Amino acid sequence: MARPGGPVAVCVINLKGGVGKSTISALLARQGYRDRNLDVLAIDIDPQANLSQGLMHDEYNNFLTQKRPSIVEVFNGYIPPTSRSSTPTALAPVSAVETVAQVGGRSLQLIPSRFDFSDNLLGAVRPDPRTLARFLSATFQHKDFIIIDCAPTESILTTAAYHASGNVLVPVKPEYFATIGFPLLQQSLNNFRNQNRGHHISVCGVVINNAFYDGGNNGGPEKARALTEIRTEALKNRWPIYENEILHSRGFPKIMRGDNSYQGNAQYFRTFANEFFTSVGL
Ligand SMILES: Nc1ncnc2c1ncn2[C@@H]1O[C@H](COP(=O)(O)OP(=O)(O)O)[C@@H](O)[C@H]1O
Ligand SMILES: [Mg+2]
Repeated sequence: MARPGGPVAVCVINLKGGVGKSTISALLARQGYRDRNLDVLAIDIDPQANLSQGLMHDEYNNFLTQKRPSIVEVFNGYIPPTSRSSTPTALAPVSAVETVAQVGGRSLQLIPSRFDFSDNLLGAVRPDPRTLARFLSATFQHKDFIIIDCAPTESILTTAAYHASGNVLVPVKPEYFATIGFPLLQQSLNNFRNQNRGHHISVCGVVINNAFYDGGNNGGPEKARALTEIRTEALKNRWPIYENEILHSRGFPKIMRGDNSYQGNAQYFRTFANEFFTSVGL
């Protein structure tokens, strides 16, 4: 059953790398599907393709070798000639989607990325940043939750993510220079709002991700300083901060590789996930 207001779409952005964007995107996609019974579409617009690998695991290699359609084809709007067809062919929207899991009428699906994504797009004619929004509005209105994992650099793809969503989730690592990307992100959102007056987009929250090992002392003075800075900077922009932090866990890199043998603190991700889903009305 489609939601009356359409899917809740969230893009995960921090113009800083290594803060947990892809890990959090993968886990929210999975938990939304598994624990909250949502019909989920995850979209990878980072050429690093970490979300794709984190959701597809070994199947990602097959996807690459079989040259299955990806986000590249979504932006291009066609499938290039292959050994079987010497002309470009139309992209059937469903063919750009990998089904990771499925039960009844619900699924966890993914539009994967490829390493050549940025070259392919940005090297050619300037792509239309509305392409993704159009694609989603035409084909994926039945989904409950759409999550878009973004690259750390600002580009036309960031704008494409804004066009395709109404919420921005900002993961942050409580470390030195934690908020270095905040002013840039706020500026980028304001520019977008000025150029797209009818489009409502807001930061649903900042989530503190303790991606480093805290040595058992909960981070010490460095973390405390970083948290104060995060609170001050978030308040300046009126961005809420989620109450539940994501704990450090050696389980996260394992889960991303498809190894569920060790969870550790990763099991507590659920508390943040529940707060997050409630905050966006899911
Ligand atoms: N809470 C955490 N505990 C332990 N390791 C983490 C945590 N969050 C992220 N990581 C690890 O940190 C690295 C960067 O995370 P990633 O999600 O790829 O960040 P981003 O997408 O922002 O670049 C990865 O190796 C990931 O497994
Ligand atoms: Mg990433």
